[in-house]
Amino acid sequence: MPQDANAIRSILSLAPVVPVIVLDDVSKARPLAEALVAGGLPVLEVTLRTPNALKIIEEMGKVTGAIVGSGTVRNEAQIKQSVDSGCQFMVSPGAAPRLLDAAEDVTIPLLPGIGTPTEAMAASERGYSFLKFFPAEAMGGAPVLKAFASPLSDITFCPTGGIDMEKAKTYLKLPNVICVGGSWIMPNDAIESGDFARIETLAREASALRG
Ligand code: 3PG
Repeated sequence: MPQDANAIRSILSLAPVVPVIVLDDVSKARPLAEALVAGGLPVLEVTLRTPNALKIIEEMGKVTGAIVGSGTVRNEAQIKQSVDSGCQFMVSPGAAPRLLDAAEDVTIPLLPGIGTPTEAMAASERGYSFLKFFPAEAMGGAPVLKAFASPLSDITFCPTGGIDMEKAKTYLKLPNVICVGGSWIMPNDAIESGDFARIETLAREASALRG
């Protein structure tokens, strides 16, 4: 089916920030997901950029309250892997036509990425009303999304790429932003040293951004 707007809306409205996770150490998956969920960020995007990413999706999916999706989904094979891993949504940096074709064959919703009005309009023609704006800061940041709001008023965005706590506040004030994605909640040194208490604190700050 084309994007199930109700399904993706209900996932993306659970928290103001979606942690974008790049992780290969499977032993860190559960404590990381537990810290993020405890801090109020239950929606987790695990990027398919590491050899163990699919195992990490499976492990994080066992954490009570976690809503785990796959990220960096670029082709049909990765859509199939995402479905098999049990994830609940998928995110892509782009909206390539063959990717959208393949997404129509599965029920879990895809959040595809766009960077320009033409790309947003093309995705909208295919039935997508929720899109990722990527790479958000490099593409011009919040002023660009603000400029999209009137002419593309039926499209809602999740900006991702280069966002931190302060920038997130600005994006979340826009009427066409449902949530933001980012990795600032999970500093690499905190993951490596197992400082999940610090990650929980950062998640708690992020989860309070809207609410
Ligand atoms: C990514 O693709 O890695 C995400 O957009 C996260 O970006 P960030 O690390 O700049 O927050």
